[in-house]
Formats: sequence, structure tokens, C-alpha cells
Amino acid sequence: MNHFDVAVIGAGAAGMMCGAVAGQRGRSVVMIDHATRLAEKIRISGGGRCNFTNLHAGPQHFVSENPHFCRSALARYTPQDFLGLVKRHRISYHEKHKGQLFCDRSAEDIIDMLKAECGLGNVAWRTPCKVEAVGKDGERFRLDTSEGIITASNVVIASGGLSIPKIGATDFAFRIAKQFGLKLVEPRPGLVPLTFDGAAWEPFAPLSGIALEVDIETGQKKSRMQFREDLLFTHRGLSGPAVLQISSFWQPGTPLSVNLAPGEDVGETLIQGKGSLKKNLGNLLAQWLPSRLAEGLLQANDLQAGARIADMPDKQLRRLGDAINRWSLVPNGSEGYRKAEVTCGGIDTRELSQQSLMASKVPGLHFIGEAVDVTGWLGGYNFQWAWASGVAAGLAV
Ligand code: FDA
Repeated sequence: MNHFDVAVIGAGAAGMMCGAVAGQRGRSVVMIDHATRLAEKIRISGGGRCNFTNLHAGPQHFVSENPHFCRSALARYTPQDFLGLVKRHRISYHEKHKGQLFCDRSAEDIIDMLKAECGLGNVAWRTPCKVEAVGKDGERFRLDTSEGIITASNVVIASGGLSIPKIGATDFAFRIAKQFGLKLVEPRPGLVPLTFDGAAWEPFAPLSGIALEVDIETGQKKSRMQFREDLLFTHRGLSGPAVLQISSFWQPGTPLSVNLAPGEDVGETLIQGKGSLKKNLGNLLAQWLPSRLAEGLLQANDLQAGARIADMPDKQLRRLGDAINRWSLVPNGSEGYRKAEVTCGGIDTRELSQQSLMASKVPGLHFIGEAVDVTGWLGGYNFQWAWASGVAAGLAV
């Protein structure tokens, strides 16, 4: 009675998708989760409206030591496929920007849809249920759980990454991978606000709450990444989509370069305007920057807002232009898993089949979703990976 074709551990985005697909193929599936409230990350995602996919999602939107690994699963289950499911469940949605699709009403709609799909597959539930140990006895896996012993021919680990421990994230997937001798790519927080040394950040702390569109970049040559998104000043550092995006690429100890006035060569414009631009510096900068930020930058560069550019040497104007167009700063770290939307790194993709997400060393053991070293950009890509990897494993088990 407690034997199943498939045991899925972790009833989040990837796990429920996998269970539903396997169940609807006629496999007997049990879904196990330690949480009392299921799929909490879907619930809080996208500000409660769940940015459930991105119309443009492709392998280029993912970070992984093997950027090609995600290609197969993403090609076999596309954003349009997920959208088809959303439409069949009559969930109303809208596109925000850059292909990001959100629920009109609530993320609960997506959770209800996944539960309904699991219901169609006659999935059995064990929640809340703690998995104490996973072992393999010949062809069968044996799970020692708080609800007794469960055996299964296939085990799918869908317990996610380390971000937001307060809503139930654990290192379960990584522990099981290590137990079965699978390699990990060192996990680290991704899509996370970045912090700066207290004293160095002091002049910027009062700017907390200011948001503006910037170009932000990190890395050199081949590893260089750039995004044009909104930046948000916080008391401890920088956040907003621009910083969350770049954080997944930023290497500790290296600088970020921020262009606070994209599309405008500030130094050159000021120099060229010396004859005709009669206004003072503060007013001129306010056309490109929020005035509080302009004041802060002038202070940081020992300049007065009332200074007239006509009276200033070109060199000084160029230096100010550089401070705005090429602001270089080195974060001292990040807000960590407490605030990170995702975990970069995870199960090394070289251990897994692209087709089935099964560990080649351990037949029947699959890893899907965020636990795997495939991390999406901000904008609905992480859920698309959860759906696609869930379907790939669901079709294989
Ligand atoms: P997920 O974390 O969804 O599920 C893991 C499940 O495993 C959970 O139900 C957990 O309780 C369970 N579990 C963990 N340890 C266990 C154990 N030891 N035993 C049993 N069960 C265990 N992405 C996106 O594309 N669009 C968005 O809008 C957002 N927004 C967003 C906001 C915030 C605040 C966060 C933190 C994250 C996002 N994300 C996102 C990222 C997205 O939520 C994430 O990538 C997916 O939920 C990953 O899906 P998984 O199924 O892999 O893990």
C-alpha cells in the first residue's frame, strides 16, 4: 500500500508539475512535503501575483556551469505550453513588460491549478511529512518518513534551493546528492540585493528609497554582463531589478559599473553647454537624475549645487560625468539567502540526463527545479525552468 511508482519530495512548482504529469500518464505518485502550507514560494512570488513564465524564455536566460543543459527540457515544454494550461484553467493574466506574465488575481490561482492537475493524476499526498532518510535497496528506493516507510521505483527530488529558509527552504536536495555521490556546484544566493561597507555607504544611505533606470554591468570581456533595469537605493546598499539581475553574475571582490544616466554623455553635454547652458549644476543634473540623488552625487564630489558650469574647468565636469556615467563600486557581499529569490549553483548538471533529469550514477533518482545548477534571470524564467524540468522528469519516471 505504501509502494508507488514515483515519490516526489517537495510539492513546490517543479514537484507538483512533475507529479501531475507522471500521474496523468497512469503512474502511481506520492507527493511528500514537510510544509503545512504548500507551494509557499509560488504564493509570495511576483508580489503575490506570480510571474509564472516569460514569453521569451530561452537557454540564454539561465546561469549554469553548462549553459546548454537546460535547452532540451525548455524546448520540450515552452512558455506557450504553460500558457495553454493557464488558459484551460481560465486563469486571467496580463503581460507586464519584457514578456513577463502575471496572474490578474492572485498566485493562489496557479497553486489551485497545479493541485487540480495533480488531482487528475490521482496523486497521493503526504503533508506535512518529514523525510528522515532515503536509501536504495536494489531497484527500490526506501524513504523513512514521519508517516512511516514509503517505497518507490523512482524518486524525484524537488525540494528547491536554500533561499528564504523562514518559509521552509532546506538543503535536503544537496544532502541527498552528496549521499549518492553526486557533485554539486557550490550554491550561492542569486537575485539578491547587494550590500556595501558601512562607512563607505554612509553618504548614500540617506538616498534610500530612490529608484531610477540604469545600465549596470559586471565582469570582463567574455564574462561581461549588462542589464538596463531599475535600481533601488536601500539603507545598506542597492536593490531593484538591475541589482537582482547582476547579482547572479557578480563575483565577490570585483566591481560593478553603473551608468546612472543611460544614453546621455553627461560630462560631454556639460562641457558643450558651457556657453549656452546658463543654469546651475543642481538644476542641470536634475534633468537626468532624481534631485536627491543629484545632490548626493554633488556632495560626494565636493561640488555645490549652485555652481555655474561656465565657471568650472572641463576636467572637473568630465570627472563629474564619469561619476554619473561610470559609477564604479565594489559590494562587500549580499543580503544572503534571507533575501535571495533563488539559489545559484546546485546539483552539477554533468551528473544528470538532459532528457529525464535522472542521475546517471543512480538509476531512478531525479533532481528538478531550483535544486539543479540552472538558475534563471529575474522575470518568470525560474518558474519556466521549474515547469519544464518537472515535465521532463514526469514524462520519464
Ligand atoms: P520550491 O521552493 O518552489 O519548492 C520546494 C518545495 O520543497 C517546498 O514546498 C518546500 O516546502 C519543500 N521542501 C523543502 N525542503 C524539504 C524537505 N527537507 N522535505 C520535504 N519537503 C521539502 N520565480 C519566477 O519565475 N517568477 C517570480 O515571480 C518569482 N518570484 C519569487 C519571489 C520570491 C520572494 C522568491 C523567494 C522566489 C521567487 N521566484 C520567482 C523563484 C521561484 O519561486 C523558484 O525558483 C521556484 O519556486 C523553484 O521551484 P522548485 O519547485 O524547485 O522549489
